[in-house]
Amino acid sequence: MIAYRSLRVALLGGGSVGAQVARSLLEDRDELAHRVGASLDLIGIAVRDVDAKRSVDLPRELLTTDAERLILGADVVIELMGGIEPARTYILQALNSGADVVTGNKALLATHGPELFAAAEQVGAQLYYEAAVGGAIPIIRPLRESLAGDRVKRILGIVNGTTNYILDRMDTQGDSLEDALATAQELGLAEANPSADVDGYDAAQKAAILASLAFHTEVSVDDVHREGITAVTAAQIASAAHSGHVVKLLAICERLIDPDSGVEGVSVRVYPAMVPRSHPLAAVHGANNAVFVEAEAAGALMFYGAGAGGVETSSAVLGDLVSLARRHVVGGPGLTESKHAGLPVLEIGKATTRYAVTLDVIDEPGVLATIAGVFAEHGVSVETVEQSVATATPGGESTAILVIGTHGAREAALAATVADLAANRVVARVASVLRVEGA
Ligand code: NDP
Ligand code: HSE
Repeated sequence: MIAYRSLRVALLGGGSVGAQVARSLLEDRDELAHRVGASLDLIGIAVRDVDAKRSVDLPRELLTTDAERLILGADVVIELMGGIEPARTYILQALNSGADVVTGNKALLATHGPELFAAAEQVGAQLYYEAAVGGAIPIIRPLRESLAGDRVKRILGIVNGTTNYILDRMDTQGDSLEDALATAQELGLAEANPSADVDGYDAAQKAAILASLAFHTEVSVDDVHREGITAVTAAQIASAAHSGHVVKLLAICERLIDPDSGVEGVSVRVYPAMVPRSHPLAAVHGANNAVFVEAEAAGALMFYGAGAGGVETSSAVLGDLVSLARRHVVGGPGLTESKHAGLPVLEIGKATTRYAVTLDVIDEPGVLATIAGVFAEHGVSVETVEQSVATATPGGESTAILVIGTHGAREAALAATVADLAANRVVARVASVLRVEGA
């Protein structure tokens, strides 16, 4: 027996994800109605071009270019257009008209999240966004609800499938970054302009969303320190493999005590880092995503699966839809975002990380002591030193390669150490500086 009425669902976007959501709403109508307690009536799908070819044959009469009109008649609006505008304006219109909203738009949430959440709270509407991070992987709801009584200490995430695919190819197939990127583009993983992926913008947006939820603090994408993978070399991947590590693009969100003021803050950063092969994140291959969460009571948790794909991501969107539709039927306001902690976001120089520094040095007596002295001067403690193959420079000097692993050190101290090393007579070249995470 289906409950008292139906809910009118407007879909904005009929692309990779939107078309799959529409298909499920039409094909699984009866089953979804039982789960919700009311039928979900798809009243229209707003697109740019109603004649465009689509991955799913959508009923022509549902397609429209008039998104605003569609929103006006809806109880629930699903935004799957992407981009900032007009998505932002449409979501605000929907919320202000009392409709609940589901979106997968990480770019919008990471830049205008506070505005959208405030609008939802003001009218008691619900704004759900499970698809915005990790595609099909349930990670937003676990952070927002399941771990709401715990204290999240740290999140390490592989949240961009394209870069994980590229780094994995470099590690397992010996591909160059350029070749791996070309393959990713051929497979339709990376965009034609892949900057959002390889320069870390996509991961930074997702890091901002995760950090906001985990630490009950507003974190914008502009607060996130971002480094992409374009500078990662085959030599770094090989050197990491030699020492039992794999290089991954990580989104890191962690609570930190400001080393200068002693006040608690958060550090949110995206960069390629070496991860020990024994760490669960090292086993994340191909375009998969995974989010490793460390919480005070729950301990270590890992959320793993498909981080993208129209069908896969539609699962997260439909989960949000069923969840908020149930609440809509029962009545009462939706979940609000808790931003009460208001922790300061600390600059990268205050974060503490371990490092692997590779140097080409002149091979003569006293060099090791000189190098060790530079590290000591900046308070950076050396954990391991490995020296390999001596070669000759064009000038005839004999050189050696030193790989120095540090204990945890402040970014600022390490940066100063590297600057001094680069200027030192005994250092021919600072060949590589990679952070080590998850050890
Ligand atoms: P697509 O580019 O495949 O589809 C976008 C859709 O929105 C198209 O149907 C397009 O119309 C429509 N659209 C775009 N602009 C407008 C506009 N101004 N007015 C009306 N319609 C418009 O995007 P995806 O399905 O890949 O992504 C949708 C959202 O989901 C994005 O926010 C994305 O970040 C997010 N997401 C996507 C994932 C994925 O694997 N694809 C994974 C996780 C999240 P038309 O078809 O006529 O061009
Ligand atoms: N470009 C993104 C990725 C898509 O490669 O993970 C999913 O957000």
